[in-house]
Amino acid sequence: MSKPIILTGDRTTGPLHLGHYVGSLRNRVAFQETHQQFLLLADAQALTDNVDDIARVRNNVIEVALDYLAVGIDPAKASICLQSHLPALAELSKLYLNFVTVARLERNPTIKDEIRARGFGRDIPAGFLCYPASQAADITAFRATVVPVGEDQAALIEQTNEIVRRVNALAGQALLPEAQAIIPHAGRLPGVDGRAKMSKSAGNAIPLSASPDAISAAVRAMFTDPGHLRIDDPGKVDGNVVFAYLDAFEDDRDAVEELKARYRRGGLGDSTIKRRLDGILQDLIAPIRAKRAELAANLDHVVEVIRTGTMKAREVTERTRRDVTEGLGLFQL
Ligand code: TRP
Repeated sequence: MSKPIILTGDRTTGPLHLGHYVGSLRNRVAFQETHQQFLLLADAQALTDNVDDIARVRNNVIEVALDYLAVGIDPAKASICLQSHLPALAELSKLYLNFVTVARLERNPTIKDEIRARGFGRDIPAGFLCYPASQAADITAFRATVVPVGEDQAALIEQTNEIVRRVNALAGQALLPEAQAIIPHAGRLPGVDGRAKMSKSAGNAIPLSASPDAISAAVRAMFTDPGHLRIDDPGKVDGNVVFAYLDAFEDDRDAVEELKARYRRGGLGDSTIKRRLDGILQDLIAPIRAKRAELAANLDHVVEVIRTGTMKAREVTERTRRDVTEGLGLFQL
């Protein structure tokens, strides 16, 4: 039996960080053993809010590919492909725009949040407003049934499935499968400053390529409990970034629960829990950083990996484009 198909990806707007690792990369490395996986370098989607900085979108194609390979994505098992070089995705996006209304796009919670965060108001680029249709094209073109993403993407998968149901209803047959979002249990990793989301633009992220000193500096600066002034004071665990990270990265669950209990009681200093976390993050990132540096010394190889993955993706997505246009009854030459 063939393996279920996964499609997932990242906008090429910056190198990936620990938030991506917890939110999706870690899952993707595990899934490459059990699923046929395509990883999309979403440069076309990145353009929808970065058209005035195309160099950024271009340069980060390689950076994100380096991150994928450095965390353990194996090009023999998973295909890394470049969105802008897959014409079928653009064609399906355009088709799907006929199945969504502007009102529905504006109601999409992911889009709503992003419009607010970016301060677009009504001056939202049309391409940005419409990117849920393009993401639906990404997912369906690969016939993906599983989409491992961070929780902020769930509403996009929901909208994808609405489009799938409309296409299938109109075609009178199951042309496209519905997709299921896989959201990690760990939830979202907060920024080092305690804000809900880690992001490069907010300056509260730890990149996967961080140096040992940068990791230590980030851990030292981590938000804990401002009321926990002396070691003997009882401390708060909720909203404490160090504990959120220990939850995400410490495999020894019992040890974490014990630390939490001691911290709540009083008698456990911030420097002790930070030292423990620093050790864990150094051990996690060191091999990623080393592999990344090794790969970066031979970029021709990385470009070749992207080219090969994109060629394979072209075949798959072109076949779906044909099936969908035929299935809907469009004129074929
Ligand atoms: N929207 C995703 C992000 O912001 C990137 C992406 C593009 C994606 N196409 C996708 C994710 C398809 C999952 C499936 O990083």
